[in-house]
Amino acid sequence: MTAPSDSTPASEWWRTAVIYQIYPRSFADANGDGTGDLRGVISRLDHLQRLGIDALWLSPFYTSPMADAGYDVADYRSVDPQFGSLADADDLIAAAHQRRIRVIVDLVPNHTSDDHVWFREALASAPGSAARARYHFRDGRGPSGDQPPNSWQSVFGGSAWTRTQDPDGTPGQWYLHLFDSRQPDLDWSNPEVVEEFHDILRFWLDRGVDGFRVDVAHGLVKAEGLPEWDHGQELLEGATADGLRPPMWDQDGVHEIYRGWRRILDTYGDRILVAEAWVSPAERLAQYVRPDEMHQAFNFGFLCSGWRARPLREAITESLSANAAVGASSTWVLSNHDVIRHPTRLSIAPDGGLVNGIGPNDPQPDEEVGLRRGRAASLLMLALPGSAYLYQGEELGLPEHTTLPDEVRQDPSWFRHNGQVAGRDGCRVPIPWHSEAPAYGFSSTGRSWLPLPESYGRYAADRQVGVHGSTLELYREAIRIRRARRTATSTLAWTEGFDDTVVAFTLAEAGLLLVANLGADPVTLPHGVQVLLSSEQLDPQGRVPADVTVWCTISGAN
Ligand code: NOJ
Repeated sequence: MTAPSDSTPASEWWRTAVIYQIYPRSFADANGDGTGDLRGVISRLDHLQRLGIDALWLSPFYTSPMADAGYDVADYRSVDPQFGSLADADDLIAAAHQRRIRVIVDLVPNHTSDDHVWFREALASAPGSAARARYHFRDGRGPSGDQPPNSWQSVFGGSAWTRTQDPDGTPGQWYLHLFDSRQPDLDWSNPEVVEEFHDILRFWLDRGVDGFRVDVAHGLVKAEGLPEWDHGQELLEGATADGLRPPMWDQDGVHEIYRGWRRILDTYGDRILVAEAWVSPAERLAQYVRPDEMHQAFNFGFLCSGWRARPLREAITESLSANAAVGASSTWVLSNHDVIRHPTRLSIAPDGGLVNGIGPNDPQPDEEVGLRRGRAASLLMLALPGSAYLYQGEELGLPEHTTLPDEVRQDPSWFRHNGQVAGRDGCRVPIPWHSEAPAYGFSSTGRSWLPLPESYGRYAADRQVGVHGSTLELYREAIRIRRARRTATSTLAWTEGFDDTVVAFTLAEAGLLLVANLGADPVTLPHGVQVLLSSEQLDPQGRVPADVTVWCTISGAN
């Protein structure tokens, strides 16, 4: 098992970084209108600094009609007024840098908003025009062209094609959208599209951002001729079914795009590209992080391993070796704005299933079990060699909001599934700062674009700061030890001698042993180890109870 060595050049900061995802709508609302904003982020940078993170990643804050919460960008070079202004973005970058926190922004290259000037121009132009050639416009099938050009499905449900109307009102061509109908896919075989995104990269690099999280990085290139694909299309599933590679995902041509981007980034110094690519197996994903492409890719194989020892061990082994083979470091993630928050997920779906949202009529999770597993999983993740991604609020142990009323839901997948699938709003609820304040301190007025559940008062940051054993203090301590002992550049070796339901490994250079008990019975620690950090108290016999992770110093190390 290899990991980048301690001789890693200091500038390769991403190899060991803890990166914190901010979903700007829901982080902190400075102007009281109920939607989080960039000035809100600035106002909470102290919290992030004390947490000890190295970088933050901001989900999209660009001008957008918000058909998919900002992942439908109308103008890539401006800030949506509900989040602030370009000047606020500049201030945020500067304020974060002052605190030695790097800033990664989201880039959405697979599709634009239907409000983007290019798409409006395309609709106003004739079939076969240069304006339409930036997207995938096709004639429909059937004598009157009223059947979609192929059978592809949208990730959010329904057909991946929508028919346009010609200026005189008659039905016209169809356009492709792998997501919502308000997110038309760009045609990346068009050099104009390639050039435009080079320019957008430079625009934000010039403003000082430290990198880009690349949305749907595995989707930009479609197989020649858009061949039929009769299999379904699940959100967050880019892998193959029956060994087949879907014609819309992970096509070999995407890599040339990222080589071009890398050449640009390299002229700016240590800036990074992070792929959101739902690709398996790990070797295939590792192709995105070859030395001349991106720097990192999210590890969804790890996220999907649930709370089961063997799949977790396998995912860790595969990631470390596949990444090492191309000279990249691994990344680890448990939660983000697309999946059920991990404390809740690990209690309702310990087998690793990715349930697409929970509604008030669904079976409800066990909050206590969830928090316990969530904390144990976080301690496991934060010890792994490589870089870790946190999602806002996980440092507070927040569960998913599982009882949101239908009428407040906004996720397009809820609408496109006709309300049959709850969707992702439950993990996007604003986060609680003050247990006694309106909207738990998210906004000064108590307004909030999604309601916070009552339970969030118990999780509010002010209830956890300085409280021994709180989830916030557990994360801080883990991040502090991680840095002090350089766990992220240590060599992981599996420890034998435990039950199959235990994940146990040593990090030799850090002098640490990690034991995570995913079984039902308490686990006895080896003789001579000292417990340094534990997700819960040990039992009176000093054993590791069920659903608990401990970090121990190995005898001889301090
Ligand atoms: C992945 C993003 O994380 C998700 O939120 C978004 O809906 C899709 N890409 C489409 O942009």
